[in-house]
Amino acid sequence: MTTNEGVTRREFVSVVGGAAVGAAVAGTPALAAQKKRRYAIVGTGVRAVGMWGRPVAKEYSDVVEFVGLCDINPLRAEVAKKQMGVSCPTFSDFDRMVSETKPDLLMVTTVDGFHSEYIVRGLERGLDVMTEKPLTIDEKQCQAVLDAEKKSGKNIIVTFNYRYAPKHQKIKELLMSGAVGKITSVDFSWYLDTRHGADYFRRWHRLRSKSGSLWVHKATHHFDLINWWLDADPVQVSAFGGLQNYGKSGPFRHTTCRGCPHQSKCSYYWDITKDQALTDLYVKCESADGYTRDGCVYKEDIDIFDTMNAIVRYSSGVAMSYSVNTFMPIEGYRVAFNGTNGRLEVRDFERQAWDPGEETEMYLIKNFGQREKIEPRGSSEGGHGGGDTRLRDLIFRHADAPAHMRLPGSRAGAMSCLTGIAARKSIDENRPIRIADLIKLT
Ligand SMILES: NC(=O)c1ccc[n+]([C@@H]2O[C@H](COP(=O)([O-])OP(=O)(O)OC[C@H]3O[C@@H](n4cnc5c(N)ncnc54)[C@H](O)[C@@H]3O)[C@@H](O)[C@H]2O)c1
Repeated sequence: MTTNEGVTRREFVSVVGGAAVGAAVAGTPALAAQKKRRYAIVGTGVRAVGMWGRPVAKEYSDVVEFVGLCDINPLRAEVAKKQMGVSCPTFSDFDRMVSETKPDLLMVTTVDGFHSEYIVRGLERGLDVMTEKPLTIDEKQCQAVLDAEKKSGKNIIVTFNYRYAPKHQKIKELLMSGAVGKITSVDFSWYLDTRHGADYFRRWHRLRSKSGSLWVHKATHHFDLINWWLDADPVQVSAFGGLQNYGKSGPFRHTTCRGCPHQSKCSYYWDITKDQALTDLYVKCESADGYTRDGCVYKEDIDIFDTMNAIVRYSSGVAMSYSVNTFMPIEGYRVAFNGTNGRLEVRDFERQAWDPGEETEMYLIKNFGQREKIEPRGSSEGGHGGGDTRLRDLIFRHADAPAHMRLPGSRAGAMSCLTGIAARKSIDENRPIRIADLIKLT
């Protein structure tokens, strides 16, 4: 099978099997010059610009050629093009972009609720497709994406950047080495602070119909890490959730922070116009679609949870207790793996009002033994603990990686988003949900 620019299926399969998207052509410089990947992006917000646009244009121009940018907001697509520093045409019609620019590689960075639509349409048009997490926001979309991938004979990459932070790779390798013996349970708590956490309640993430709730939008990262760390699939989820701080729980409300009469007394007041890049990309494009980036965190239409707890059972017999809290004075997480020979404890400090000394504390504590301090290796500079840069390098350039660091595909995407989808359903229906009852994995 051949894509419309002549890159074979076998070459793209090697992506999910461990090689890079550009590897098929990057291996020989002469060939690379002739056969750059024809790259298009749909959804040109801040993630597209900062992760899949500007750095790719700057660092991978020998293997990647930008051929088109598409967004339902044509003004934003134009601003994004400038911010990325590329010269390709922009579109608001996806099919027209594909027909006119003939990409062979598509990056999907739209609002989450539309990922499945573009993944399926991309696959149907013969493109190799990468998507930002989450793969999809419900089980129906998930099934449609898996079926379309199978039918197309192409491969999806889900860009789970958290796996590529050196500290997360270190955890994976310690667990693979049997450091705690047979893993029996996991304690995992994620804390979003009043800055990062609040931001999800300002825009489309606040609606289940767009984000699937933070059980899907945010927790998919964490569930993917756990599936990968444990090398196991989720089997059953029981969850609880509440909206205790944002939305209807708030003391007052307005539409946006701009023009809000409560500015002086609202701790969540945020002036987007102080950030020129965000003002250009969002505020100056509002006339086209009415998307306001600084919506009120107390809006009454907020229908997601801000406080979430779950118990997840895995195919390996492990049980995980998991929580996310979204209005904390700290940003970071705690995770501990309990096993027959001991415990691996990790505390990650991303943001807090004091200097914790180090960003990550990791201890291996042996039963009947001592506590050993583990040094998380490598640099964590760059977005998401250094994961963003390493992921881009793997996708666009490096041809090889150890088996456990290979690029995640649709199965990983499905297993992680389905855990969150099951959690949401468990709360709605007040019962445990089995993953196997949500979709058919063939
Ligand atoms: N991996 C990570 O760490 C990470 C971090 C941030 C965002 N993300 C993901 O990246 C994606 C984009 O996030 P963002 O923060 O840039 O959001 P955003 O709202 O800033 O940008 C999304 C863009 O998609 C466009 N869009 C919406 N519906 C569309 C449609 N039907 N067709 C075409 N375009 C459409 C919007 O106009 C907007 O420009 C999301 O899926 C998000 O989950 C991942």
